[in-house]
Amino acid sequence: MAIKVLPHYLINQISAGEVIDSPASVVKELVENSIDAGANRIDIHIKQGGKKLIQIQDNGYGIVKNEISLALQRHTTSKITSIEDLESLTSLGFRGEALTSISSVSRLTLTSRTQAHNQAWQIYTEGNQINHQIVPATHPIGTTVKVLDLFYNTPVRRKFMKTEKAEFNNIDNILKQLLLSRFDISISLSHDEHLVYYQPVVTTETEIQRRLKFIFGADFNKHSLSINHRSNDLFIHGWIAEVNVYRIINDLQYSYVNKRIVKNKLINNAIRQSFRSILQNNSRLAYVIYLEIKPCQIDINIHPTKKEIRFYEPRLINHFIIQGITNVAKCIIVNNPTIKSCHKENKNELEINNSESQNNTFSLPDWYFKEDVSNAIKNNMTGIYKLPSSFTYSNYFGQLLAILYNSYVLLKKNQKLILMSIPTSLCYLRKAQLKHCETYFKSRPLLFPLKIKINELYCKILKDNHTLIKKTGIDLMIEKDHLTLHAIPSTFHEYNLKNLIYAMLNHLNQQKKNYFKQLVHWLGNYEDKSKVISWNILKANILLAEIEYFCPDLLTKPPANLIQHIDIKNTIKMFNDE
Ligand SMILES: Nc1ncnc2c1ncn2[C@@H]1O[C@H](COP(=O)(O)OP(=O)(O)OP(=O)(O)O)[C@@H](O)[C@H]1O
Ligand SMILES: [Mg+2]
Repeated sequence: MAIKVLPHYLINQISAGEVIDSPASVVKELVENSIDAGANRIDIHIKQGGKKLIQIQDNGYGIVKNEISLALQRHTTSKITSIEDLESLTSLGFRGEALTSISSVSRLTLTSRTQAHNQAWQIYTEGNQINHQIVPATHPIGTTVKVLDLFYNTPVRRKFMKTEKAEFNNIDNILKQLLLSRFDISISLSHDEHLVYYQPVVTTETEIQRRLKFIFGADFNKHSLSINHRSNDLFIHGWIAEVNVYRIINDLQYSYVNKRIVKNKLINNAIRQSFRSILQNNSRLAYVIYLEIKPCQIDINIHPTKKEIRFYEPRLINHFIIQGITNVAKCIIVNNPTIKSCHKENKNELEINNSESQNNTFSLPDWYFKEDVSNAIKNNMTGIYKLPSSFTYSNYFGQLLAILYNSYVLLKKNQKLILMSIPTSLCYLRKAQLKHCETYFKSRPLLFPLKIKINELYCKILKDNHTLIKKTGIDLMIEKDHLTLHAIPSTFHEYNLKNLIYAMLNHLNQQKKNYFKQLVHWLGNYEDKSKVISWNILKANILLAEIEYFCPDLLTKPPANLIQHIDIKNTIKMFNDE
């Protein structure tokens, strides 16, 4: 068959399939448009589970007459002007394709009026018809989008629609999620001319509880624990409850990032891990969790439905969520189901006030979440370093409270204080990383490859030991009178790399025969005396998380040169003994 350019309407229909696959997806896109337009009242009318009619009316700022037709064209949006705008995005839409997608598979009427005009304007489109005619209409300030006969021109898609009841349930479900995303908006839903519900704007705590009760059922309100945890630019809040224990019927699990409904494994896993490590069972959970993060820390431009997101610093988020939820989760085993929030309840908690510890954010490398890497290591690794299958709170040295003398971290775990040596941690971590560099753990490339001059002797040592060196993750190329260093394990990145390479070559030269184990040992103990790393909470948290991941055995049997417990109770007692 000859190659032909597809007609415009067909391109639109094909693309529409990515965004619009059901009546519920139409409702989601249109309500999100209303939210983006600043509406605080949205009325939804559905007929025949959305197959016949989906109508969304809002009281937002509307669309001016000369932009109405534009709104229905592909890749037209008022929400971004450049890709950089995504880094500060606050709107839910940004792709400029939802309305076109919906209009290409339905008969769509859009009516809108702005505050500046006392006249509304209306446009009608029918599937592939792209000649837009705008006519005057009556309408209050805001917009109404009426979608008739969804998928009337795409019979295959129409055939895949479920029963009216099932499609309506999906609409109901998406609206419940939207209701939880914005308490400052009222939403009404009617189905086949019957009002299903009207949810007013919510402001007080009691009203919030009422909306939660409406969505999750009364038991959720009674037994849910409130989460509220902030650290620098990150904020997590919401409610969480065990389903099995309290017979909560709706085991709904909703997560939001910057008020956007998201489906994100990392968030779900972190929530589950926090509970599982405490409860030691597989209780099902119902929750609604809100994460607030700087828009530049996430990538939302992954999938046309905009429900998927990627975190630029996944381990930071993982630890942050676990930290935020674990304290609350602990309350459950206190056997007091009436506890609403653990922040007030943990009176016995060791109280340490260190303003720096509030800045407990840290960033961690991406490899942590690459399942293939951790599974590969888990399945194949022998010897002392076994990686945990996943991070749990028990694989946690403790909450970082302070850094002492630039050499020790002060940690809190299970009501106890712990001092941990930073130089020793570095040694253990480095040895673990070096050992597995070649097979599972990629060393980090240098931003700019480093050229280092070498004499003939060094050149020979390098050539003789090239395979050995490569095995430790030090990736270099030997050239005439110099070497070019391309990558090296991350723990060396802050060091003077030229000094390190020379020192390593001298070390190799002194050995009669060089073995991998010895080289790892030497590199592991290497100290850069020319450069003192100035430790801060951020760096120390990265170090801790890496050592938890690479050296879990140190958690169960911590050596004395790594960890010392501080007997705070006895120390306090000594005041009274005096
Ligand atoms: N209810 C509404 N009120 C006011 N303006 C609207 C409304 N719905 C759509 N618009 C305008 O029409 C434009 C196109 O809407 P559309 O949903 O197609 O794209 P988008 O929301 O910008 O991005 P996305 O495709 O990600 O949803 C919007 O950018 C907005 O300016
Ligand atoms: Mg939109």
